[in-house]
Amino acid sequence: MNIILLGPPGAGKGTQSKQLAKSLNLPHISTGDILRENVKLDTELGRKAKDYMNKGGLVPDELVTKMLNSRLGLPDTKKGFILDGYPRNISQAKTLDSILSQRNIKIDTVIYLDSSDGVIIQRLSGRLVCRSCNMLFHKINMPPKKTMVCDACGGQLYQRDDDKEETIKNRLIVYKNEVSSLLDYYKNKGSLLKVSADGQANDVLKEIIELVKGLNDPSKV
Ligand code: AP5
Repeated sequence: MNIILLGPPGAGKGTQSKQLAKSLNLPHISTGDILRENVKLDTELGRKAKDYMNKGGLVPDELVTKMLNSRLGLPDTKKGFILDGYPRNISQAKTLDSILSQRNIKIDTVIYLDSSDGVIIQRLSGRLVCRSCNMLFHKINMPPKKTMVCDACGGQLYQRDDDKEETIKNRLIVYKNEVSSLLDYYKNKGSLLKVSADGQANDVLKEIIELVKGLNDPSKV
């Protein structure tokens, strides 16, 4: 299965994608994680992307698309994938269609995680991420067992550079400028499903899994 998770910053795309990937035994492809890894390793891509990311803007399409194309070319995507953070605009959506059609595959569903601004700001301002394995925590909602230490791998937790108030505001503006045309694009293709993401993470996951199961069961559609 090839699934896209769409939604505002902080809606829980990363949190849900990781769980869904585990449950469906599919790779989780997060363009944000790949870009952050490149920034950490100070690659040429990372150096080019860093400023855009720190300001809350989008990294230019050609850079992100090239990166995604090579990730989708790895053998683990043959069984399917969960895509998180791409596409961000119509141009990326069309490019994705053409990349996938060259490989004779298509997107099975696009799950839109809908979340309110108040929830988003609370989530992003308390988010903690593991430096080693990218596991996600939250200071209040999902605190680690040991302060600033990852429950999964013992790595150090940190706050993302773009989780500052000013940058969060910019990320939301960028998101809102692009989202309605992107949602229309997938609605017109008949592949869009919507989930309210304001509830508890486990409840949101259950709802996503039910929707995905429904895709394989015509009586549930
Ligand atoms: P990216 O990393 O994709 O950031 P984003 O889209 O802004 O989304 P986030 O990662 O902030 O949020 P999320 O929805 O994954 O929420 P999470 O699960 O972490 O991109 C970062 C930057 O890279 C972009 O700004 C851009 O510059 C660049 N970029 C990336 N892709 C690009 C592209 N395609 N084109 C151009 N540029 C691109 O959850 C947030 C917090 O809430 C966590 O602390 C979590 O524990 C908590 N939480 C989650 N769910 C729940 C819940 N249900 N209840 C309570 N707490 C919850």
